Amino acid sequence: MITNATLGVAFLVLGFAATVLQLWLWTFPMVPDPGGPDPHGKTSAPPFWRMVHRVLGYGFVLIYLALMARMIPRIPFLEGETADTATWIHLALGWIIGILLVGKVVILRFAQEWGNRLRAVGVILFLATLVMLGTIARPAQTFASLPATTVAERQTKALISENCGTCHGAMPLFHGDDSWSHVLEEMQEIAQKSSRPDPLGSRGSEMAAYLQKVLPRSERREERHRERESEREDD
Ligand code: HEC
Repeated sequence: MITNATLGVAFLVLGFAATVLQLWLWTFPMVPDPGGPDPHGKTSAPPFWRMVHRVLGYGFVLIYLALMARMIPRIPFLEGETADTATWIHLALGWIIGILLVGKVVILRFAQEWGNRLRAVGVILFLATLVMLGTIARPAQTFASLPATTVAERQTKALISENCGTCHGAMPLFHGDDSWSHVLEEMQEIAQKSSRPDPLGSRGSEMAAYLQKVLPRSERREERHRERESEREDD
């Protein structure tokens, strides 16, 4: 299973390579091309590297689509603990990148007279990619570095990443203080109510044990939480 983190890193690497290559390709002068589609002329950049740039661009678009296919199903679950400011910026930049990509294709196919703006579009696209990944880099990196020494632990960690990642990223895992068994029950309920597959399957106890080991939470806080809730109900 390819993780979102792997896709994210590939997205950044491709974006960086495409942007640097594009800036270099733009250092070649434009030669006049009377009657051509672009009044600024035709580029004299080497065709081989222009093709490499195109292939990198298609790769970038494919990864974008793969990431969106995984992110869009999370949108209904943006609430409370799953949506901090960084998440909203991440979401907005995700759409902006899509709009910029469409803009690039429109210029290349239908509005060649705007060709001299492609360089700016490319640089903004890369900066948007960088900031978009930056907004989630910390929780993603913290999750990735959680220890998993045995094969069983590595499998449990991968399952958490895969099953829990269908609704939200790693960020909520580092917030909240309910016991893990309580959180997992709640997640199961949310999934059931929204007709999503059960994130625990038959592995709930392994998940709770693993999460308790690497991100300990006290049951005592949970008791206090329950007490507070019953007090509120009594009022
Ligand atoms: C069906 C969608 C869905 C799935 C699957 C899901 N979650 Fe959640 N999760 C949510 C929503 C919605 C919230 C926000 C609830 C709130 O703010 O009270 C949330 C919040 C959380 C929180 C923070 C709130 C708290 O009570 O501490 C943690 C931690 C969490 N999820 C962990 C997990 C883990 C671990 C898994 C995988 C076993 C998982 N989630 C799977 C939808 C989901």
